[in-house]
Amino acid sequence: MSAALLEVRGLRAGFGAQTILHGVDLDVPEGKVVGIFGLNGAGKSVLLKVIAGVVPAWSGSVCLAGEDVTRTSPERRVQRGMAHVPQGRQVFGSLTVEQNLRVGAYALRRRDKSRYDERLAQVYETFPKLAERRRQPAVTLSGGEQAMLAVGRALIGDPKIVLIDEPSAGLAPSVVEDLLGVLLAVRSLGLTMLLVEQNIRFGLRLSDSACLLQRGRVVYSGDTASLDQERLGTYLGVGRLLADDLTKGLGAKSTQPRRASRRKAATVSST
Ligand SMILES: Nc1ncnc2c1ncn2[C@@H]1O[C@H](COP(=O)(O)OP(=O)(O)OP(=O)(O)O)[C@@H](O)[C@H]1O
Ligand SMILES: [Mg+2]
Repeated sequence: MSAALLEVRGLRAGFGAQTILHGVDLDVPEGKVVGIFGLNGAGKSVLLKVIAGVVPAWSGSVCLAGEDVTRTSPERRVQRGMAHVPQGRQVFGSLTVEQNLRVGAYALRRRDKSRYDERLAQVYETFPKLAERRRQPAVTLSGGEQAMLAVGRALIGDPKIVLIDEPSAGLAPSVVEDLLGVLLAVRSLGLTMLLVEQNIRFGLRLSDSACLLQRGRVVYSGDTASLDQERLGTYLGVGRLLADDLTKGLGAKSTQPRRASRRKAATVSST
């Protein structure tokens, strides 16, 4: 079997005397979406930050496309094809939509300037709302539009993998549905994603496989379709009725076909 696009092995990390990640193993195969789920404080965001290189690993390894990047800078990981959408989105409020997108494309612009215009057009095709608001400061966007901008900023550099932390947080249910539509469209193009979500229903609809994290340890890793109510109840603290509802939804999802090419632009409308 070929190696996964992202391979995390025995990852340990923490702050001061406190260990947060106690030896995490994780594989993200190319073209798949892996969802990380866990209660508040389980270490989900720290895990993404260690993978992205913004928090150092104490031990263990992170390999991207066969290359060990454990000791490389976050910038170099971006150049190698890793994009990180941090929790809270962190768009630059005083910069316009287009300036935010330029920041996301800095590695691409340095590498291949002519590709930048092409990628920008593709992001605007995927997120027509961003095209309409290209000259507006990001602070004036709605929460949903800022979420789209954060995702667009990650996609513009044509990454191999996107690490995305709680994209649905703080959004109204109808906006969460819009965002889900966008991410499903992006996923159908074959983009590889490592997704952290508190909204389990949203996260499970996007993920091919799930990794349940409990106090910095992986307690389940496998197909979302094999996730049972008991595990959801035990590790995520969701009630039995919700877990039942979620596992029924999973059965329906697993029958959906996937398209292979990730080059074609997805067009989705967001309101
Ligand atoms: N910079 C830091 N310094 C010290 N402790 C930290 C730091 N960042 C995170 N922690 C601690 O690490 C633990 C895991 O935090 P993390 O942000 O990964 O949780 P999470 O699973 O993402 O939770 P949530 O669902 O609330 O976002 C928490 O106990 C947190 O207080
Ligand atoms: Mg978090």
